Amino acid sequence: MCGIVAYVGPKDAASILLEGLQRLEYRGYDSAGLAVVNAKSLKTRKVKGRVADLAAAVPAKFKGTSGIGHTRWATHGAPSDVNAHPHLDQEQRVAVVHNGIIENADELRRRLEGEGVKFESETDSEVLSQLVGRMVKETDSLREAVSRALKSVVGTYGIAVIDAQRPGEIVVARNGSPIVLGLGEKEMFAASDVAALIRYTRQVVHLEDGELAVIKADGFNTFTSDARETAKEPFTVDWDAGHYDNGGYEHYLLKEISEQPDTVARTLRGRIDDRFHIAHLGGLNMDARETRSFRRVKIIGCGSAYYSGQMGAQLIEELARIPADAEPASEFRYRSPVVEPDTLYVAISQSGETYDTLAAVQELKRKGGRVLGIVNTVGSAIARETDGGIYLHAGPEVSVASTKAFTSTAVAFALLALHLGRVRDLSPADGRRICEGLRRLPEQIKEILTLEDRIRDLAKKYADSPGMMFVGRVRGYPVAREGAQKLKEISYVHAEAYPASELKHGPLALISPELPTVAIVPDDELLDKNLTTLGEIRARHGRILMVGHRTSEAADDCIVVPKNEVELDPILLTIPLQLFAYHAAVALERDVDRPRNLAKSVTVE
Ligand code: F6R
Repeated sequence: MCGIVAYVGPKDAASILLEGLQRLEYRGYDSAGLAVVNAKSLKTRKVKGRVADLAAAVPAKFKGTSGIGHTRWATHGAPSDVNAHPHLDQEQRVAVVHNGIIENADELRRRLEGEGVKFESETDSEVLSQLVGRMVKETDSLREAVSRALKSVVGTYGIAVIDAQRPGEIVVARNGSPIVLGLGEKEMFAASDVAALIRYTRQVVHLEDGELAVIKADGFNTFTSDARETAKEPFTVDWDAGHYDNGGYEHYLLKEISEQPDTVARTLRGRIDDRFHIAHLGGLNMDARETRSFRRVKIIGCGSAYYSGQMGAQLIEELARIPADAEPASEFRYRSPVVEPDTLYVAISQSGETYDTLAAVQELKRKGGRVLGIVNTVGSAIARETDGGIYLHAGPEVSVASTKAFTSTAVAFALLALHLGRVRDLSPADGRRICEGLRRLPEQIKEILTLEDRIRDLAKKYADSPGMMFVGRVRGYPVAREGAQKLKEISYVHAEAYPASELKHGPLALISPELPTVAIVPDDELLDKNLTTLGEIRARHGRILMVGHRTSEAADDCIVVPKNEVELDPILLTIPLQLFAYHAAVALERDVDRPRNLAKSVTVE
């Protein structure tokens, strides 16, 4: 993995591929490469480093009207020029770019080497180019050659393949790793992410797992793995190239944090019913009787999506009084979960392509579970696999660390909880209270954003700590977990989140002047208990940064945010922690938008 782009049409392929690769840079990568077909031969350039390094390595005379490009995030073999994609077969006729993991690569490599094939790289992906290279000699169809090669492969892939003998044709295939086709005027594109195509077209077609497509300048055809042609309806992406610009901000992350008054308003738009104080969620595809029939809610997602799910579980229990809990999708899928007909499953994903979450959804569906998706990317794999759901409408999230998708997911859960609550026992008065609270969120987020200068100073003050503890109780605990996640992933400062109530059962031993604590202290029924915890930390000479609705002498520093309804306060309390992590990362001169070792969307196991 990480990013694929392909082009066939009348224009200069190399410059379109380089532009597309630039648009994929946000996903994180360590090397880049491209190949074009020219006069029945392949031209290839690959470099360890940035897309700008690749552009500098591509000579002016690198003409071709079809080609493929890739940004690689190393899985098999270290980042290097040779391990970068595209990979060729040994006769240099076929070139392949691949996202995903070939699980039986070692076995295939041994078999091919036994047949005299010489490998260039250490990657699992090269077995694909070598296999297609062998098959392409046995058939006069590139699609057939790719299809035959894929029959011996176990694993996940999104691939694009070109053949020097067929200049006007590209074959792409998907199994677990996204591929989207972009339909232009007498030109066609394919990519792993619409970001790479959006400057050229907004008409797209998503491939399903097991599908292949042949793309030519004048159109495309899609097939199942057993060569049956499939019918696909293109749809129009409602994001445009402007959504992918940094809007004059120094980093995408700051842009995305700052966008939250708008993105939260978009998640809410048209979904609050003032007459019955309920949420309109047409995408759930469930009538009131069905909505009432669930006895449990189980939420799955990975990383920050999972933490937003914890916030969601809390909201559902409080407002709808249905037992709810969240679990990492990556764990859920491996433990043979008991799937019950009266449980509503909810899968969360910004990208809609996270492999662990997708695999968990597929497992649930196999076992007859009813699964909703809370997803940002329209038409993505998880959106397609689920029985219904809620789109976030937060616009594309470019920075690797999730911010606006997190808050919009929490808001979507508040809407879902309101909806589930109002078809059960939540009173109209409480329904109205929540509707009014939701409406106040965008303005209150604006108010929090005005605290940025103060938060920057605090971030500078604490950034050189060797580590930080984050604590919160009940509603505050998911806030603490997400705050620790943001800090560790973009600033590389060790950060650990604990329920405040658990501190005295172990981690209190860590508290010292060297390990400051960020304490989430909302004004709710647990305020006194939280203040007692601050006292315990202080008695061990721990420094405290308190985030809440008031100041306290028990803390060294306080960030005070506007108060909403107790159930909705966690959403607002998250935002200063995003700014804190951002400014800590800037103070430490980190690569804020592309933190080391991380990719934006994890489409491998
Ligand atoms: C953290 C972060 C990740 C993602 C996770 C799930 O800032 O971005 O933890 O939340 O990889 O990604 P999606 O939501 O695309 O499924």
